[in-house]
Amino acid sequence: MSDQNVFPVDPAFAANAHIDNAKYEAMYEQSINDPEAFWGEQGKRIDWIKPYTRVKNTSFDPHNVSIKWYEDGTLNVSANCLDRHLATRGDQVAIIWEGDNPEEDEKITYRDLHERVCRFANALKAQGIQKGDVVTLYLPMIPEAAVAMLACTRIGAIHSIVFGGFSPEALASRIIGAKSKLVVTSNYSLRGGKQVPLKANVDAAIDDHGASACIERVIVVQRTTKDVAWHENRDVWCHEVCAAASADCPPEEMNAEDPLFILYTSGSTGQPKGLQHTTGGYLVYASMTHEYIFDYHEGDVYWCTADVGWVTGHSYIVYGPLANGATTLMFEGVPSYPDNSRFGRVIEKHKVNQFYTAPTAIRALMQQGEDVLGDSDLSSLKLLGSVGEPINPEAWTWYHRIFGKGKCPIVDTWWQTETGGIMIVPLPGATPTKPGSATRPFFGVQPALVDSEGNEIVGAGDGNLVITDSWPGQSRSIFGDHERFVQTYFSTFKGSYTTGDGARRDEDGYYWITGRVDDVINVSGHRMGTAEVESALVAHPAVAEAAVVGYPHDLKGQGIYVYVTLKAGYEQSDDLMKELRNWVRSEIGPIASPDLIQFSPGMPKTRSGKIMRRILRKIAEDDFSALGDTSTLADPSVVDDLIEHRLNRK
Ligand code: PRX
Repeated sequence: MSDQNVFPVDPAFAANAHIDNAKYEAMYEQSINDPEAFWGEQGKRIDWIKPYTRVKNTSFDPHNVSIKWYEDGTLNVSANCLDRHLATRGDQVAIIWEGDNPEEDEKITYRDLHERVCRFANALKAQGIQKGDVVTLYLPMIPEAAVAMLACTRIGAIHSIVFGGFSPEALASRIIGAKSKLVVTSNYSLRGGKQVPLKANVDAAIDDHGASACIERVIVVQRTTKDVAWHENRDVWCHEVCAAASADCPPEEMNAEDPLFILYTSGSTGQPKGLQHTTGGYLVYASMTHEYIFDYHEGDVYWCTADVGWVTGHSYIVYGPLANGATTLMFEGVPSYPDNSRFGRVIEKHKVNQFYTAPTAIRALMQQGEDVLGDSDLSSLKLLGSVGEPINPEAWTWYHRIFGKGKCPIVDTWWQTETGGIMIVPLPGATPTKPGSATRPFFGVQPALVDSEGNEIVGAGDGNLVITDSWPGQSRSIFGDHERFVQTYFSTFKGSYTTGDGARRDEDGYYWITGRVDDVINVSGHRMGTAEVESALVAHPAVAEAAVVGYPHDLKGQGIYVYVTLKAGYEQSDDLMKELRNWVRSEIGPIASPDLIQFSPGMPKTRSGKIMRRILRKIAEDDFSALGDTSTLADPSVVDDLIEHRLNRK
């Protein structure tokens, strides 16, 4: 290995692991050279009602992007996640739920979960939901979130989960975009001891932001005892409709390519897009990646700290683990409540074996010092995972030392909402790790680096990360806009899937993700389109123009840096700054809250009126030594003013 800082595979770990290096090499080679045979075999890890005879039928040709896996097979996802486990592990815990309050928890067996899902599925039917309808879930991290997801899959409804931190306006646009008839929410959510009014947000989305155009019903889970406003002709209590429903609900037979869910995510332009995932290939990929990457073994307790509102929660709290008959932990709270030792306490309490979290959480804990986890007993841990953004080597080694006591392999998992499952990652029994590198491709994944002209970079080098052939977990389309799907992902580098990320490949063939190459920023592992934040800002009466860029942030990875030009008649002030910050929070949600707002009399524009973001990015990074050529600007003096008043000074 070329690097000094290599963590070899522990031979004892490899001896018990599903995949060691020899297996990785052999399986990877087969997955690329004979994908039909490889995925044909892997498809058998899930149960099919009608087995498939065709495995792969995919094209990345921009004139005909078409992605189909197992296309003539039929199955049901909830039956795979529940029914098929009942005979052998009906009494095994499927979900350990750990509440926001450390005194509150619940263990739900596969048998209990099956019953709850069947009742919920019948309740959905009773509310008029049929196969193919879109159900929006706007829920906290409570068991009902998993129950509602699985209930949708049971009857062939498509779920669209909207993260509970999004504002009524953002929720409404996702409801309308998906033409959803029904929302499942809770009266409140609990985070760090505080109640967040989810139901009131749903009401506002419907009554004030246009979602009344499609929403007919709201199912409300009673999470706390606090009252909420009630609309007799629209709202029903979850516990009432489930109690009234039968516990017998035969699973709907779905085609492998029928939609399973929609998940909105941000892009570099326009409104968020509803990525569509389908049934068969997604489940095969989620199940396989979960088992091999986390080296999950029967009886292990696995914990992913993500929220089900993001793709990580879909694939690695619910579908992957439950398809594998695993025990998956679902955490309602935050790492800092009641104090910063919470992750450690939960690991100890439930004897967690695999722990999967985000670099931003690790960095926040790291700031609190070496003894942040107190005297928590972490000896149950066998493996650690990281996801959502590049993990800096300091955070990696701290995680390894403080959580892993130097003995747990770390899997740094690179993937995206679009990819459905993990794509570049070390396999813990096979791949020596280097802090900060996501290392090597998973089975069937063919990454490549290309320059801006699309020429492939061979050997070590830097470039745009693309994937040259399909894998089963891949998103099939953007809901209602296949053309946008083709344009966004398949037209820049013809014949390949464009990830939007840049990467470096080292002499050992290891990939180092360097971050987004488009106008998407990654704030605390949350993906955000700068265009969305800009359009929220220009909707404010005082704002004439806004430009948003990311800048390096110690805790969040990237922070949100906003440049604002005010309309005539408005004066810059601290109050206005506060108001704009609150405005963005209410338009999108707290995750989009600007970190720095710089008022600027003008923007650096080309003579044709295009804002030169490259310059804004550099100034936000406090690196204006290499601004490049500014002579083409309409008014170069703008740049001097921007530099003089810059807010991020190192
Ligand atoms: O830039 C990459 C970053 O997160 C983006 C995907 O965001 P999202 O669709 O919200 O999915 C997040 C969870 C899978 C990617 O384009 N990213 C994700 N994981 C990593 C990462 N960057 C570096 N290393 C990772 N492990």
